[in-house]
Amino acid sequence: MTPDLTVAQQAALTSGRDFWQTKPDEAAGLPAITVTDGPHGVRLQADPRVMLRGRPATCFPPAVASAATWDPELLRRMGEALGQECRALGVAVLLGPGVNLKRSPLGGRNFEYFSEDPLLAGTLAAAWVQGLQSRGVGASLKHYAVNSQETDRMRVSAEVDERTLREMYLRAFQRVVTQARPWTVMCAYNKVNGEYASQHHWLLTQVLRDEWGFDGVVVSDWGAVADRVAAVAAGLDLTMPGPDDAGDQRLADAVASGRLPAARLRQAAGRVAALVRKSPAPGGPGYDQAAHHALAREIASRAIVLLKNEGGLLPLDPSPAGSLAVIGEFGRTPRYQGGGSSQITPSRLDDALTGIIAGTQAEVSFAPGYLVAESPSEQRVAAADGVGGPADQDRDLLAEAVALARGCDTALVFVGSLHETEGADAAGLDLSPVHQELIRQVAAANPRTVVVLSNGGVLRTAPWDEAVPAIVEGWLLGQAGGGAIADVLFGRVNPSGRLAETIPLRLSDHPSYLDFPGEHGHVRYGEGLFVGYRGFDARDQPVGYPFGFGLSYTTFSYGPASATVLAAAEGRPDGIEVRVPVTNTGDRDGREVVQLYVSLPGSRVSRAPRELKAFASVPVAAGATAEVTLTVPREDLAYWDTRVNRWVVEGGAYHCAVGSSSRDLRAVAVTEVAGDDARVPLTADSTLGEWLDDPRGAGLVADALTGTQDGTPDSGYGDPALLVLLRGIPLARLALFPGSPLTPEVVAALVAAASR
Ligand code: BGC
Repeated sequence: MTPDLTVAQQAALTSGRDFWQTKPDEAAGLPAITVTDGPHGVRLQADPRVMLRGRPATCFPPAVASAATWDPELLRRMGEALGQECRALGVAVLLGPGVNLKRSPLGGRNFEYFSEDPLLAGTLAAAWVQGLQSRGVGASLKHYAVNSQETDRMRVSAEVDERTLREMYLRAFQRVVTQARPWTVMCAYNKVNGEYASQHHWLLTQVLRDEWGFDGVVVSDWGAVADRVAAVAAGLDLTMPGPDDAGDQRLADAVASGRLPAARLRQAAGRVAALVRKSPAPGGPGYDQAAHHALAREIASRAIVLLKNEGGLLPLDPSPAGSLAVIGEFGRTPRYQGGGSSQITPSRLDDALTGIIAGTQAEVSFAPGYLVAESPSEQRVAAADGVGGPADQDRDLLAEAVALARGCDTALVFVGSLHETEGADAAGLDLSPVHQELIRQVAAANPRTVVVLSNGGVLRTAPWDEAVPAIVEGWLLGQAGGGAIADVLFGRVNPSGRLAETIPLRLSDHPSYLDFPGEHGHVRYGEGLFVGYRGFDARDQPVGYPFGFGLSYTTFSYGPASATVLAAAEGRPDGIEVRVPVTNTGDRDGREVVQLYVSLPGSRVSRAPRELKAFASVPVAAGATAEVTLTVPREDLAYWDTRVNRWVVEGGAYHCAVGSSSRDLRAVAVTEVAGDDARVPLTADSTLGEWLDDPRGAGLVADALTGTQDGTPDSGYGDPALLVLLRGIPLARLALFPGSPLTPEVVAALVAAASR
């Protein structure tokens, strides 16, 4: 705390000095600290006049790729490396990670976010934060909360019911806050259920601090504060960017007039001061650029997802025999990150063509195949747009590429989305017509065609999938992606990346389709809990490639699974433990991402058919068997019960299915879990059914129902056929029926007895 600061000094501390620095207060011994983007590199602006150009730094794979590793250990190492770069560049807080759910595949910042699943997003982000903060640099968990679209992002109200909020959209934030204790949390631009996130007391104070125990600084997203007094009152500490002298003055005035509690401003300033005090002094040691580039390559190679590999076309034989055609400008000019605030100036940049030439003695030739458009408007295209033919220039490049493909043993076609950026959602999920045509014609000319994709948001493969035997999903892989692609193509790395989001067959199949991106300032999260694979599974819909999917150059078989309920022990909460042996049945060392999906058939509440509850990326040598143990803390089995306003574990037989993807489940074990005692108070407004389903209520109401306890004749209300009809009626309403044995007096007595 900073008790000696005047109100004016306190107010001044709660807004920035400029775009990237906090305000110093020399008298109080507080220097300015530097914060900067994030999340997959350090974007320290080199020149204040040039917004998006930073000093060179390692551009690690953006979250769309790092998530596909399903490996928290890699994320922790990325965090550590970023921490070192921050220290070297004098940055105290790195603005990331972003854990908003990929609600729609059209989300413009999906390349900066991890997944459509909150457990995967939260687990990976927590590891990243732990790695970063272990180097004495703070994280800024963003964008809190429900910032899952770019359309009207500064104003739109995301309308979400509380259970969905808790279980889906807040869950990753909760995991990171409680497990990794980020120094700061960044509040989102948008409104949540009608209130700006920046002035949302329930989000910023009740949930974040009172429930989750967050003790760091809540910082605004850049320009997110509409009313600074309201925001600080709700729990915001630091407004960015600055300066905002007029706002500082308004805060001081609000304290003077009693509109803002003095203690709240003192607390906000105290938190900013504490952040400054724990920040490292600028001038840290340098870092090993080559080692960080190598780490970026390792993560990128582990992020690549092999979607299709008919006839074992991949890996390619690197020996001198044969010739390879590399086709597509993205093979030479990589797409390696998205646009906007996360754009890093890479310390070096590898392209796939160079990596391929270096990786083989075969003859490699190149044809660009298409022009790379400069225009950001040419994003992934809507299906309806996919009808246009190539322009003249493209037609020539296409013909040249097809001729090259025809004369080579194998054709590698590099295509992808043309541009993705913060600030704009995508128009569709399809490759541009030019890229689709290139795939079709090359595949027709050469049956050994491999498609390599570069994209930050989901691209559907359905329109051309059948035409090619092999597809490599190469995301946006950061500065070392070119070498990583070569590593996978030649089998130096056996692919183990898995989809962190579903690839739909059609956009209109997607659970979010009818309610994205909303209109006139509102977006209704109509699919509720059924985000991503949860929605596809609930409707038993076919998909292009399911959540969790990814092939390997080897094969794995699963033995029988066992599941046991564990009691809490030192260092471990109670929960379920699932064990399964996994054998590498091929002749190559590999890595299997073992996934555990839990269901509760017959649950009394609405649930997805299965939910990811644990996973592990496990190396298994050829022919070897790994005994894999996955644990689910009991709290992760809970649903949010809006009747009692808390997390509740429903008792029952939990089905624990382990497998290779959400739709490739290989073994199931069932275990009985005792439920929480979450009795909902019985009132006169509770229905007869609710009374009868409650162990205590059933006993009380049964006698009253027949009305025979005082010697009067049986009213017939106990008749099972009639009970079906009556079950849905609240007791107070039943009491209004003439002849009902449940008179108002009887109901009052029942309620009194039930609450004793
Ligand atoms: C973005 C944040 C970013 C901030 C600072 C905002 O536009 O939403 O993610 O950290 O700018 O660049």
